Amino acid sequence: EMLEKGGFDHFMLKEIYEQPRSIRDCMRGRIYPEEGKVQLGGIKEFVEKLKNIDRIIIVACGTSWHAGLVGEYLIEEYARIPVEVEYASEFRYRNPIITEKDVVIAISQSGETADTMAAIEMAKERGATIFGICNVAGASIPRLSHAGVYTHAGPEIGVASTKAFTAQVTVLTLMAFYMAQQKGTITQSKLISLLTELDSIPDKIQIALESNDIIKEVAAKIKDSRNCLFLGRGSGFPVALEGALKLKEISYIHAEGYPAAEMKHGPIALIDEEMPVVFIATQNSSYEKVISNIQEVKARKGKVIAIVTKGDTEVKKMADYCIEIPDADEAFLPLLATIPLQLLSYHIAVMRGCNVDQPRNLAKSVTVE
Ligand code: G6P
Repeated sequence: EMLEKGGFDHFMLKEIYEQPRSIRDCMRGRIYPEEGKVQLGGIKEFVEKLKNIDRIIIVACGTSWHAGLVGEYLIEEYARIPVEVEYASEFRYRNPIITEKDVVIAISQSGETADTMAAIEMAKERGATIFGICNVAGASIPRLSHAGVYTHAGPEIGVASTKAFTAQVTVLTLMAFYMAQQKGTITQSKLISLLTELDSIPDKIQIALESNDIIKEVAAKIKDSRNCLFLGRGSGFPVALEGALKLKEISYIHAEGYPAAEMKHGPIALIDEEMPVVFIATQNSSYEKVISNIQEVKARKGKVIAIVTKGDTEVKKMADYCIEIPDADEAFLPLLATIPLQLLSYHIAVMRGCNVDQPRNLAKSVTVE
C-alpha cells in the first residue's frame, strides 16, 4: 500500500498532488491554443442540437454537483445557454419538465451513483439527450448516455474527491468553450487567449501546491474549531461549497459554504472570535464586494482566512491568514482556488487524527438510494 501511495502518507494527499498531471491528461488532445480550437470527440454528435436547445440540465450528487455549479457559471457566461443544476435525488422524484429539446448532463466520478443513474434514465424516457461526464471508463452512466466525455483523472481512491473534481471542472470548461465556439458567442481571439491560459493552469496548480507549508500552519491554528464558514461569490461560491464539504467529510468539523453576500441573512449570527471564516477573495469581478464582506466578519471578531491572488495587498491588511494562488482569468478561478482548500481540510483532518482516506459513514460510490 505504501507503494501505491507513491511515498505520500495518504491517497488523498497523493491525489491532491497529482492534479497538475491529471488536468493535463484531461486536456490532452482536446485543446489547440494556437489554432483556438477545442476538440471534444464525444460531443460532436449533438453539435447541431446544441444550436437549438433552450437549456441544459445538469444532474449530479456530492462533489460532482459542485462541479455542475461551476459548469453553470462557465456555460452561461461563454455559451449563453441557460443551465439548471439539480441534485439527482431531488430531480428524479419531482416530475420535472423535460422535453426532447433538453440536454441533460450527468456528472459522476464513479459513473455508478444510483440517484444520478435513475435521474438520467427518467430524462431519457422523456426524450432528452443524455451526456455523461465520468471518470471511470465503461461504468453504468457512460453506458446509459447518448454521448459523453471522460475526465481521465485516473483512479481516485480517497473517499473525499479531489482530482476527479478538478478534472470535471476542466471538462466543463472545455465544453463551455466548445459550445461558445459553435454558437459564435466568443471571438476567436478571446478563445485563443483563454485556451493559452488554460494550457498553463497545470503549472499554476503546481505553484498553488507550493503553499502547502503555510496551509499547514493555518490548519494548526483552526484545527480545534467546532464550526467553519466558507464564503465566495460568483464561481467562488461553488468553490466555497466544495471547501466546506471537504472539511466536514474528513475532519468532522461542521462547515457551511455560502454565497458571501447571503452571510447577512443568517450565518453572520454565528460569527464570534471562535469562528474561522474562509473567504475566496481573489482579484476578480467580485473582489471589492468580498472585501466588504471580510470587513463585516472582522467587525464581529471572526477569524479570517483568505485565498488571495499572489501579490494581493488589500485583503492582507484585514485577514488573519492569507494563502496565495497565482493570478488567472476568472474562468479558471475554481480550478486554482480549490487546491488550497483541499490541503487545508487534509491537514486539519490529519491533525485531528481522522481517517483521511476512509472517513466514517461515507462511501466512495453510493450505489443504493
Ligand atoms: C459519494 C462520494 C463523493 C461523491 C459522490 C458522488 O458521496 O463520497 O465523493 O462526490 O458520492 O459520486 P459520483 O461518483 O457520482 O461523482
